[in-house]
Amino acid sequence: MIDQNKQNTLIAAAMQARHEAYAPYSHFYVGVALLTKDNEIITGINMENSSYGLSVCAERNAIATAIGKGKRDFQAMAIVSRGGVTPCGACRQVIFDICGNIDIILADEEGKIRDITSTETLLPNAFGNKDLV
Ligand code: THU
Repeated sequence: MIDQNKQNTLIAAAMQARHEAYAPYSHFYVGVALLTKDNEIITGINMENSSYGLSVCAERNAIATAIGKGKRDFQAMAIVSRGGVTPCGACRQVIFDICGNIDIILADEEGKIRDITSTETLLPNAFGNKDLV
């Protein structure tokens, strides 16, 4: 589990990122901050589309940005949203595949921690690259 200092820094970064969330249809704004093993923070926001199904969650946008920067190892993710929701099923699979079993901090719009969980808790018995050999 990452220490409280790192938790607070990560939540602050996710709250800041959330200001740029593009959610004109749902008005549900999500900011994510992903902490790499080398202590870099990479953020993401949800980006909706007028063709609703093309919308992309903040979690997957943060992960895509991190991969594009050459990052491969992660320790934690903070997700900030109204009420501190858990990631959707599609994002749980992507988090598992790319980040493995990391800490997942769920915080509300005020930055208050609602839960600290993990990939394995949110997606037990996941399908993964181990199944493709
Ligand atoms: N959304 C996220 O970005 N992350 C979540 O964890 C839950 C849902 C987005 C998708 C969509 O833009 C909006 O929130 C409402 O579903």
